[in-house]
Amino acid sequence: MTVSTLPLNDGNQVPWIAFGTGTALFRKDAEDAIRLALDNGFTHLDGAQVYGNEDTLGNGIAASGKSRSELFITTKLGKLQPGATPKSALQESLRQIKVDYVDLYLVHQANNHVGKLKEIWKGMEEAQKAGLTKSIGVSNFTADHLKTILEIATIPPAVNQVEAHPYVWQALQPNLAIHDQYKIVTSSYGGLSPLFRGKGGPLDPVIEQIRARLEKTRGAPVSDSQVLNKWLQQKGVLVVTTSSKAERIREYLDTQNVPELTAEEIALIDTTGGKLHKRYFVSLEFDNDSRSSAHIAFQPGNWPSE
Ligand SMILES: NC(=O)c1ccc[n+]([C@@H]2O[C@H](COP(=O)([O-])OP(=O)(O)OC[C@H]3O[C@@H](n4cnc5c(N)ncnc54)[C@H](OP(=O)(O)O)[C@@H]3O)[C@@H](O)[C@H]2O)c1
Repeated sequence: MTVSTLPLNDGNQVPWIAFGTGTALFRKDAEDAIRLALDNGFTHLDGAQVYGNEDTLGNGIAASGKSRSELFITTKLGKLQPGATPKSALQESLRQIKVDYVDLYLVHQANNHVGKLKEIWKGMEEAQKAGLTKSIGVSNFTADHLKTILEIATIPPAVNQVEAHPYVWQALQPNLAIHDQYKIVTSSYGGLSPLFRGKGGPLDPVIEQIRARLEKTRGAPVSDSQVLNKWLQQKGVLVVTTSSKAERIREYLDTQNVPELTAEEIALIDTTGGKLHKRYFVSLEFDNDSRSSAHIAFQPGNWPSE
């Protein structure tokens, strides 16, 4: 099965679903997981310097026997060591992953570069111009962070990777307006959170109702994960997920074969998700409203993995 792609604002294409080496694999050996993902059809791999496993991500790629041109590799800039630049940090990532270039290089957290965001973005552009990465983007950037770098950018970010699922969709609206304006692809992590990190929420019966309808239409099994990933896919969102299980990996990829949600089903997920504001990962500053911190499951210092 060919994994479908999304167009980026720099003319490149990105596979719509990626296999991540953070969260469950954070600071762990990722080789076997990467092999499992590649053997079962993933082509897009999502790493980061802070995950501490770029070398084993590279080992998994090498062991898979896949050619570089078949793969889309993302990594992310962490905190800079004194004297380092986004370009020199990427050169070290390439050495660890054992490749000549990555396809996408993201600034992982604006908060790692307080007061220096414009300088950092210039450095990202230099890394791209040097051919070390095909595309550049950001992660966990709020609308204000985006506005700051867009003041000086000669290359706008191609992607912003953020926590995205129905319980944060409303809070993301200021971001999404800028993404639309600059054709920045929204990338999601934690997309399946309502199903297990937030089980028992208002979405549970809605997901079940839509899952049952899709299964009937398809005449074959459809899972809860596929309903949420389809919701993201139909919104043009790049899904970053992970799994230790071959069966679930195949199920994620099979999402593109699941029948489409209707406009009414999408609206029902949007409005039901909007009834509960719940964030499971970082970035308190996304939530400038009064609903925010009381509902954040993981405070800094107590984040699940990154
Ligand atoms: N940029 C950032 O700051 C940032 C932050 C967080 C994550 N990420 C990226 O996003 C990737 C994916 O992150 P994620 O974990 O948040 O993805 P996710 O898609 O929300 O969840 C995937 C995880 O959920 C488990 N899972 C899936 N379905 C389940 C079910 N029905 N019941 C119980 N568990 C289930 C999987 O475990 P099994 O092994 O059991 O399948 C897997 O560990 C990371 O690896 C990383 O690359 C980036």
